[in-house]
Amino acid sequence: MSKPDSLALSLRQAMRRLASGVVLVTTVDETGAPYGMAASSMIPVSMAPPSMLVAIHREASIHPVVERVRRCCLNLLGPEQSPLLEPFSRTALRAQRFTSPDWQLEAGEMPYLASAPAAVFCELERLVDYGTHTICVGRVTRVLLGPSAEPLVWLDGAARRLVNINAPDYNPASPDAPSGDSS
Ligand SMILES: Cc1cc2nc3c(=O)[nH]c(=O)nc-3n(C[C@H](O)[C@H](O)[C@H](O)COP(=O)(O)O)c2cc1C
Repeated sequence: MSKPDSLALSLRQAMRRLASGVVLVTTVDETGAPYGMAASSMIPVSMAPPSMLVAIHREASIHPVVERVRRCCLNLLGPEQSPLLEPFSRTALRAQRFTSPDWQLEAGEMPYLASAPAAVFCELERLVDYGTHTICVGRVTRVLLGPSAEPLVWLDGAARRLVNINAPDYNPASPDAPSGDSS
């Protein structure tokens, strides 16, 4: 049996092998100040009612704000938005988070990325603490679709583009193609 520490390490390594999308979770506090954070823990929960889930670390700066205001926007990232990943995932770069002109305000307050593949607005109906995180379940109140559907994919600590292996121009020998037996 693994000790808890080595189990956590193995799980971390396993999760580096799980490809995920990335969102920027955004919200606004009572004074109108925007908060945000990169997240890959989001999943759609249900279509009845339309709902989403995201897990937020209790020490993230956005955490006390979502706990109070109980709403947020999940901005799905595409490759074009990859320059925003670092500011939204590094505390030291917090001041650079909302400097891009791509940010707009929904209903005059909630920041969302108009250029992103989608912006999903949620009213948070359940907040469940588990370990270091709070699992936030949000009822979706509005969805805005952006100009491109191409996703940014997070895998093994790096942002990537998705390759369609069924596309006629797919080249398995290209440097980005997965290695291994293709027979
Ligand atoms: C690709 C990626 C996914 C992440 N997913 C999550 C997540 O789902 N939940 C979370 O709490 N932090 C996640 N983080 C870490 C936060 O983005 C990071 O800790 C951020 O700096 C927290 O905001 P703060 O610096 O304002 O406290 C992720 C980081 C990256 C790069």
